[in-house]
Amino acid sequence: MLVCNCVWCILFYYRAGGIIPPVAGRLHKENIERVVQEAVEKSGVPLQELTAIATTVKPGLAFSLEVGLTYSLNLVQQYKRPFIPIHHMEAHALTVRMLHSVEFPFLVLLVSGGHCLLAVARGVSDFLLLGQSLDEAPGDTLDKVARRLSLKNHPDCSTMSGGEAIEHLSKSGDRLNITLKIPMSQRPDCNFSFSGLRNQVNQIIIKKESDEGLQEGQILACASDIAAAVQYTVAMHIAKRTQRAILFCKQEGLLPQTNAALVISGGVASNQYIRKVLQIVTEANGFSMHCPPPELCTDNGIMIAWNGIERLQAGIGVLHNPKTIHYEPKAPL
Ligand code: KG4
Ligand code: ZN
Repeated sequence: MLVCNCVWCILFYYRAGGIIPPVAGRLHKENIERVVQEAVEKSGVPLQELTAIATTVKPGLAFSLEVGLTYSLNLVQQYKRPFIPIHHMEAHALTVRMLHSVEFPFLVLLVSGGHCLLAVARGVSDFLLLGQSLDEAPGDTLDKVARRLSLKNHPDCSTMSGGEAIEHLSKSGDRLNITLKIPMSQRPDCNFSFSGLRNQVNQIIIKKESDEGLQEGQILACASDIAAAVQYTVAMHIAKRTQRAILFCKQEGLLPQTNAALVISGGVASNQYIRKVLQIVTEANGFSMHCPPPELCTDNGIMIAWNGIERLQAGIGVLHNPKTIHYEPKAPL
């Protein structure tokens, strides 16, 4: 069984940092044919032999979703295959089951550039949302801080995403040189907030830049200390909210009493420091922790294909004659 690979989930980062939606849409259009052909050649399975075609339809950039959906529906018509619409976050949550035997229900933490949430996965398409970011997602915060620190001009970091650059620089930084408050320490729930942290960091950067007399694009002497402090604070905030979610699940009996599992995914979950901190939290609570390898944590076509397989096996949302499928740029889990 094979479900088509997909590229519409790939994000395009520019030297300026971040995504420019119409440009991402254009690049999707220009590359989709080539990437599908490459996937077909590598797999050795011709399109007419696919069991089904799975494609992201929500949430995401309208330009990119449209390119993927239009292309897929053409294939579906041409080869008379079933179509499986995919929710991007569901795909992140289920990827780990391709590699490890993690049974439902489990706790899932999704931390990416566009999302941040904690949920109980009760089935392939059955999620109980426990908390989410009230403003921006952690990857977005890391990207913006990296941009503000001009890390694209750092010789080691020019091809890295903001989050990767922060992780890389943190290794040579001392977080204790920069003081940052952990967000929402007084809020007794499982929600997140990162915009206040970014404001704190901006204030510190403005002060340091003026002290050092730096021009735009120049790198602060203490950039690695700032990176280390930001990474630490993001990790602590995520860890504290995850701890609350674990306690809530225990209290409400939402997970098995023994061998309960935490699954982490999304681009930020490829951060080794954040993984270590979460490992400590899970071990202290008697949970096991599962995460896909870093290359399957960030957006990738394999996770969409796997979600298609899970839905196909469970017989959920498989459309045999799709006519009016719409994409949804904004969609809850
Ligand atoms: O899941 P993903 O590929 O796309 C979204 O659905 O958003 O996540 C991309 C995000 C970016 O913000 C990027 O900076 C962040 O994941 N990221 C990281 C790391 N690698 C990617 N954040 C922290 N540490 C990393 N190693
Ligand atoms: Zn993603």
